[in-house]
Amino acid sequence: MSNSPAGLRSDSRTDLASPSGNGLFAVKAMLKRAVGTLLSSNVKDILRILGVAPTALSVPALSANYIYDFRQFLKWSAVGDRLDTQTKLRAVITMDYHRIEKGLALREPKIGFGRDVIQRLLTNLKRYQTAYGLDETCQIAINTLTAYYQFNQTHGIDDQPLNVAIAALNQAIASDRPRTNQGGIAHVTKQSILNAAAIDFATFTQSRYSIRQFAPDPVELHLIEQAVIMAQKTPSVCNRQSARVYVFSDDEAKRKALSFQNGNRGFGDQASKVLVVVSDLNHFVAIGERYQAWIDGGMFAMSLVYALHSLGLGTCCLNWSVERWADRSLKRATGIKESETVIMMIAVGHLPDELTVAQSPRKPLSEVMLVR
Ligand SMILES: Cc1cc2nc3c(=O)[nH]c(=O)nc-3n(C[C@H](O)[C@H](O)[C@H](O)COP(=O)(O)O)c2cc1C
Repeated sequence: MSNSPAGLRSDSRTDLASPSGNGLFAVKAMLKRAVGTLLSSNVKDILRILGVAPTALSVPALSANYIYDFRQFLKWSAVGDRLDTQTKLRAVITMDYHRIEKGLALREPKIGFGRDVIQRLLTNLKRYQTAYGLDETCQIAINTLTAYYQFNQTHGIDDQPLNVAIAALNQAIASDRPRTNQGGIAHVTKQSILNAAAIDFATFTQSRYSIRQFAPDPVELHLIEQAVIMAQKTPSVCNRQSARVYVFSDDEAKRKALSFQNGNRGFGDQASKVLVVVSDLNHFVAIGERYQAWIDGGMFAMSLVYALHSLGLGTCCLNWSVERWADRSLKRATGIKESETVIMMIAVGHLPDELTVAQSPRKPLSEVMLVR
């Protein structure tokens, strides 16, 4: 007898409808077959036999996973003004000093703009000073406030209370902290940008493939560092830079991380490094930002892949399209923080001299670019 549910239904009907068959025997045979089929089928088949649409199974599972994402965002983001961690407070300070930077970077900045932002930034800087001491992020914020003060001053507004507040903050920076003069605006020329951007990006992008065969030579950590520094230039929402990357080099650590991922069979074990790109939910403050971790983290991951490619290394992105149990298990096994959303893994290794790659042809341009 066919094991398929459709087969079961039609067979059963034939048995029962057979005028010559013994009714009781037919029912018993049908039940026997049904039990056998149930035992050898997976849950989806069973539901089909019972006439339940497969979506009925997906709905509770999907809901549970959405609830997991919802809980994660509720627990770890700063939604509701819960600035109860250093990362959250740093994120809102960054957001606000960057608002000032953006305002100053306009062609015609409005004199005295953003007073509410200035006040909030001063309050949060004092809060940060009390809780953690003024670090590099705070110094950048103070330098931005200085640029803002000077801009207004040159346009006829001398905001002395702000000047005094800036001086007090500058004085409060511990002498053993490294100093930075970053923050505010930079003057650049079109020519300087054109000179630096004159690379053959089309050839560069066309020469990147997902690599699924790696040479045995280990990838030196300094190459990964170089790539991460390049990837750090990736744009992020309000420059909050939520993305981070875990680097696994040790065989056991790599094996453990890859054991939760379903797309590395046949090549994952050849990777010299396994990277896990994450985005810390502590950086997000608004309900509208509930998917921002994936956006900022995804963009960071793309830059990292290109950066590694620019250093001559092979990479293969590895999906983290998993359900909550796998997410929890990976975090427990590898020490990835609970507040971090895992974006993807990236297998990294040196390229062999010759190799085969999947062609992965692209769609026609007309399907992708829609001129309206
Ligand atoms: C987020 C993401 C997840 C991916 N996951 C896997 C994976 O698990 N296993 C794999 O072999 N390739 C994976 N890939 C690679 C894709 O198959 C590949 O990028 C695509 O076919 C295009 O080919 P190319 O990278 O060679 O241009 C992934 C790519 C991305 C962007």
